[in-house]
Amino acid sequence: MAEVKAALTDAAAAFDFVAERYDDKWDTAPGRADELYIRHQLRDILETDKKILDAGCGTGLLLDLVDIPSDRYVGVDVSVGMLERGAEKHPSHDMFFGDITSPHDIGSGFGAYISLFGVWSYVNLVEAIKGMCAALVHKGRFFVMLYSPRHPDCLPCFGVEVPVARWTSEELSSAFRSFDIEDFTIRGFCAGGPREGWPTSVYLSRHYVEAPFLYMWPDFGHYLIIEGAI
Ligand SMILES: C[S@@+](CC[C@H](N)C(=O)[O-])C[C@H]1O[C@@H](n2cnc3c(N)ncnc32)[C@H](O)[C@@H]1O
Repeated sequence: MAEVKAALTDAAAAFDFVAERYDDKWDTAPGRADELYIRHQLRDILETDKKILDAGCGTGLLLDLVDIPSDRYVGVDVSVGMLERGAEKHPSHDMFFGDITSPHDIGSGFGAYISLFGVWSYVNLVEAIKGMCAALVHKGRFFVMLYSPRHPDCLPCFGVEVPVARWTSEELSSAFRSFDIEDFTIRGFCAGGPREGWPTSVYLSRHYVEAPFLYMWPDFGHYLIIEGAI
């Protein structure tokens, strides 16, 4: 328990430190292509008529990408700095300070649980799964992106380091085995492009070309994307 709390404090402090510069970092052609591709992957999960939980909402990327009415959106994050930046961009949406591994913080009754770009790599995996199961209604769906062992450290380029966990598809499947999950899938996602300087559309097409291979060999991705329903 002490270790989990220490990691939580580290992550909050690290993301507070980078919050002002965080969005600009991904404002590149490959970064925009990554986000456009992920936006497309979210179309099914967004069809719920219930509330959507943005677990580890950061600066509100999910709301940058898709329109979600404010009465159906809840964002939760442990970094006050990231939350403040999110509130500036999306003042009518609720983004709260809270730990996604604490069912008390995140509440329940959600039809969809979305966690983008590696939030679970800063938390205890089993506690995150438990928190997610407590948050979702029966048949509620989830879409979670985690760092694979191929994910490069992204915070050191901001001058800050924090412990992160990286998982293989086998480790994730095994962690989920003791939970009652339906339609569980794992695939990989390669972030960024091989070169800077191409148009966003080129990086975007690359994602669609790679997608079938990353279903077959998820661990080749920088991220693993897990989806399913409880
Ligand atoms: C890599 S950023 C991703 C942010 C956002 N989802 C995005 O895609 O831009 C990871 C986020 O996870 C948050 N985080 C880390 N541990 C958390 C926890 N236990 N509960 C809630 N948020 C957490 C961090 O504060 C940070 O905003």
